[in-house]
Amino acid sequence: MEFSVNDQTVLSFASKNSPADGVAVVFAEEGPKLTATAQDLDKKTKGSLSRAAGITGFKGKKEQTVDLLAPQGLKFARLVLVGMDKASAYSQEDWLNFGGAVRGMFSGKEAPAAHVFLERTGGDVAPADVASFALGALLRGYKFQKYKTKARKTKDAAAANERTLKKLVIHCADPRAAAQAFAPARAIADGVMLARDLVNEPANILGPAEFATRAKELTRLGVQVEVLGQKALEKLGMNALLAVGQGSEKTSHVAVMQWKGAGARGGEPIVIVGKGVTFDAGGISLKPAAGMEDMKGDMAGAACVVGLMHELAARKAKVNAVGIIGLVENMPSGSAMRPGDVVTAMSGQTIEVLNTDAEGRMVLADCLWYAQDRFKPKAVINLATLTGAVMVALGKEHAGLFSNNNELAGQLIAAGDVTGEKLWRLPLGPKYDKMIDSKVADMKNTGGKWGGSISAAQFLQRFIKEGTAWAHLDIAGTAMSSVDSDINRSWGSGFGVRLLDRLIADQYERR
Ligand code: BES
Ligand code: MN
Ligand code: ZN
Repeated sequence: MEFSVNDQTVLSFASKNSPADGVAVVFAEEGPKLTATAQDLDKKTKGSLSRAAGITGFKGKKEQTVDLLAPQGLKFARLVLVGMDKASAYSQEDWLNFGGAVRGMFSGKEAPAAHVFLERTGGDVAPADVASFALGALLRGYKFQKYKTKARKTKDAAAANERTLKKLVIHCADPRAAAQAFAPARAIADGVMLARDLVNEPANILGPAEFATRAKELTRLGVQVEVLGQKALEKLGMNALLAVGQGSEKTSHVAVMQWKGAGARGGEPIVIVGKGVTFDAGGISLKPAAGMEDMKGDMAGAACVVGLMHELAARKAKVNAVGIIGLVENMPSGSAMRPGDVVTAMSGQTIEVLNTDAEGRMVLADCLWYAQDRFKPKAVINLATLTGAVMVALGKEHAGLFSNNNELAGQLIAAGDVTGEKLWRLPLGPKYDKMIDSKVADMKNTGGKWGGSISAAQFLQRFIKEGTAWAHLDIAGTAMSSVDSDINRSWGSGFGVRLLDRLIADQYERR
């Protein structure tokens, strides 16, 4: 079975003794102890693989490799021996990252095809682990090449500025079972890559209307999508969200995506809300020029929601889930909101705008209220590139987690630990809440110098009704301008899709 996951690599699973061309990858555990296929190919090369291993001091450690070019007696071009330490100790995340790391070894010197003989010395690799490995490999192979004209025009991948692996074959003990286990992973890969595509897209191409159109495309997968335009938002009284967008030539939108995979018996949905500021110039409280281009990624929360809804529908998840995204552009202009303005949110509460650059919370305030007003959600989770302060606190390894519900918080942290999309909980409390009391309105949109991520979260909590289980993920440090990892080399990481897929699979799906 072949999986064409993006336009870059076709992935397939095959049995161990299939013929090979291109690059062949085999493995060794610490010692080095070569896997059966590694030993077999070593014999066919009359021992040159193990000789090369000896010469280079290869001990089967992770990240160690032996690279034989034009191996004698074999048809393919390169034979690579990769160390894996102790494969029996690998977690799901280890297999994922390992798949990414192995995929990364081809970058820059890519042949059209790679054959990976995925084995352990102590037995076969379980189909689920093969699937994790494959997912990691695909995510690592993602490149945002849309605006690379050379790469697009040439048919010869090797001549393009970005070389691309065309075919990845994973040889394993039970290819049918691996392909089956990969089916949901493929949906995840597509969802993550969709989120990355959206985050990487520049703001002149992807404004609120275009983003809404991308959400609408989920209709193809059986998601019900409604797009609320300016008029509808005015009628609903979403004045906080509209105030943010009023300085832009581009009109604001809210998209509501419903996936009813659990049917009536599944009960009320879980609702995921995303901040979709397609560009955040700061408004009248204009941001400094340096690095402002990064603010095209201020819609990463919304991108995650669209990627997640895609993923849930593509794997036909047995869950009722709703995605709501607030799509606006925050620009300075003669029609922009001013510092000092007071606006009435959909909830009826009034907000004094002290800094027009604290716009994300205003967008979310109305989306969160709408989510609870229209649905009776089992839980509401929002994702937002909300504050620079979360990076001061946590760097770029953990996203900030705020919640009014210990059980939900614990489940999210657990999902973060298995997927590697890690969360760190930060506090909420009445003293922090006081920071956003306003002299002229019910609240102000900034909370002063310290604890900026917390006061932002307190602001959101003012729009959460008593009894609603709610969590807020501040993904400013993890979703954009991403640090390189085994499974990601893209600016937009697609953070949150795998995390929430895991949460939903573990806690919300009907079995
Ligand atoms: N979108 C930004 C937060 C952000 C900063 C995301 C850097 C990603 C990278 C948000 O709208 C913002 O401007 N927040 C302000 C809040 C402040 C004005 C209270 C911030 O973090 O400085
Ligand atoms: Mn801002
Ligand atoms: Zn913002």
